[in-house]
Amino acid sequence: MLHKMVPTCNFARRMYSAAAGKVKAQKYVLTKYFQGEPKKSDFKIVEEELPELKEGEVLAETEYISVDPYMRIYMNNRKLPTDMIGGQVAKIISSRNQKYPVGKYVSGYFGWRTHAILNPDARITQPGFVPVTVVPDLGAHSVSLSLGVLGMPGNTAYFGIREIIKPKPGQTIVISGAGGAVGSHVGQIGKIVGCRVVGFAGSDEKCEYLEKELGFDRAFNYKTVDIRAALKDSCPEKVDCYFDNVGGEISATIMDYMNKYGRVGVCGTISSYSEETLPKVTIMQPVIVSKELTVEGFNVNRWTDRWNEGIQKNLNWLNEGKLKYHEKVYHGFDNMVDAFVGMLRGDNIGKAVVKVK
Ligand SMILES: NC(=O)c1ccc[n+]([C@@H]2O[C@H](COP(=O)([O-])OP(=O)(O)OC[C@H]3O[C@@H](n4cnc5c(N)ncnc54)[C@H](OP(=O)(O)O)[C@@H]3O)[C@@H](O)[C@H]2O)c1
Repeated sequence: MLHKMVPTCNFARRMYSAAAGKVKAQKYVLTKYFQGEPKKSDFKIVEEELPELKEGEVLAETEYISVDPYMRIYMNNRKLPTDMIGGQVAKIISSRNQKYPVGKYVSGYFGWRTHAILNPDARITQPGFVPVTVVPDLGAHSVSLSLGVLGMPGNTAYFGIREIIKPKPGQTIVISGAGGAVGSHVGQIGKIVGCRVVGFAGSDEKCEYLEKELGFDRAFNYKTVDIRAALKDSCPEKVDCYFDNVGGEISATIMDYMNKYGRVGVCGTISSYSEETLPKVTIMQPVIVSKELTVEGFNVNRWTDRWNEGIQKNLNWLNEGKLKYHEKVYHGFDNMVDAFVGMLRGDNIGKAVVKVK
């Protein structure tokens, strides 16, 4: 367990207050569907007065909000206007739940808002919902890691490797979207398990970071290289596992360079998220059949019941110095859209977050 959640001593009782009082929260409301890149004019920032806390609830004040690729596509089918979705890490400033005392940090999906009232116990019981997590003691590290290496992207990397592509020591893993939150993490776990790791990312700076800082064997700028030539150059034993963050033609080329019985984890398809219609790419079924590939899509929510296992494992690697991270930190609640667009454009190395407070 990461954290003992049921304190019973008097000290713990003194830690929580009975009522929140009236707090005004700001939140982003989506009023127009995204067309191409998201725009500030797609949103309104709305102020709302929060009600008093009920038994079991806490009031949390946001410190960091995450900007993630899924936000670009998950808003497409919602009835407008609607509150913007998103993960954040927040400090409990008032509590009527002994398990969640004032001063603790929690991470969860409270949306793009400055304050949230939540009942952490109620949310945990919903199947398939990423649970509210009490942020463990991170020592000198920022609580924002709960949105990155020690949060949803970190768990996507951990479970995606462990349960989907299952590399064996000595095998070769190729990762697309390798410079971002999930991809940079996947490559490091690949090195921990003893694999050859090759990444594709969108700038020379990212590639240099992956090779020099994170220990990738090779990294290539997919915008400037010939993908097949890069694979020939960097994968002498061809490719056993492909962790696909982007989809599209690059994935077709990589899968065509795989070994028989190779395994493909389809994590995301960000190359198409801002497109009005899905692009046409090379048909993959012949390669899947002839190489007898296992291709499996996955959603990290599959492992909500093992959520803390992933966080604890990544925390251990972090503390042992086996896992590194990089954050692109934007500042200010007003800059949420700039951060969101910046992440979609590839401005981030590692995880993009917004410091709100
Ligand atoms: N299945 C799941 O449960 C799950 C969970 C988390 C994330 N994901 C998926 O995993 C992928 C990575 O997510 P993340 O949170 O780690 O984001 P991220 O990689 O930190 O940020 C997104 C990155 O996508 C790249 N990108 C943008 N447009 C692209 C394009 N047309 N072609 C190729 N790359 C492009 C950019 O990097 P470049 O500079 O390299 O272009 C950008 O930095 C996404 O597809 C996301 O949807 C899935």
